[in-house]
Amino acid sequence: METKEISQAVIGRLPRYLRYLGDLKDEGVERISSQELSELMKVTASQIRQDFNNFGGFGQQGYGYNVEYLYQEIGKILGLDQKHNFIIIGAGNLGRALGNYLNFERRGFIFKGMFDKNPDLVGEDVRGIKVMPMEELEHFVRENDIDIAVLTIPKNSAVNIVDVLVDNGIQAIWNFAHVDLNVPEGILVENVHLSDSLMKLSYNINRMSQGKK
Ligand code: NAI
Repeated sequence: METKEISQAVIGRLPRYLRYLGDLKDEGVERISSQELSELMKVTASQIRQDFNNFGGFGQQGYGYNVEYLYQEIGKILGLDQKHNFIIIGAGNLGRALGNYLNFERRGFIFKGMFDKNPDLVGEDVRGIKVMPMEELEHFVRENDIDIAVLTIPKNSAVNIVDVLVDNGIQAIWNFAHVDLNVPEGILVENVHLSDSLMKLSYNINRMSQGKK
């Protein structure tokens, strides 16, 4: 596989390919052409070919791509063939919703621990994981090979927890707090703001109601 720098836009499209390919696989489809995939996903076939060419094209031969192979390869590119242990900090509504979501395990993300500063929540069970007090965080992260911390706490709390996480070996932060985090080089942060997606929807509703396409 080539190791040239791939644009984040391309990387950002890979999970959607993976979802469609996963569905095709489940339906027993063995091969698919870029044209068929294009019709299914409503993106141009040339976009698909261009995206896949970043990774050597995935060996499209004769009639289309081998669905299983493509699914595995895209999964590998996304690092989904590796296991990642994660913890969630903040056992409120959002933290619990994420903790309860089973599909992360399917993708290799293993839910290991959950923390909250509220003593009333400590000991509560979220999918077999007991909420722990913040005092146990550092030791737990060090001892359990945790690489990802999910932050579902208010923004000030998120800012304050970063150094503790990094000092104890966290490599990546999946940040739901509405704040940009300052992290040392080499530490990855992926911000998620659900409302961004909603605002995009709002923009498109506006456009549509003005008769534009
Ligand atoms: P929530 O109030 O239900 O839960 C927050 C939890 O964080 C509480 O259990 C609280 O005790 C805990 N907490 C606060 N400070 C802490 C600290 N320093 N250490 C450990 N635990 C601490 O709130 P909800 O609805 O779960 O939202 C959590 C955060 O995520 C909020 O700041 C909210 O603004 C944000 N949010 C972000 C979204 C996004 O799309 N990025 C969507 C929804 C919420």
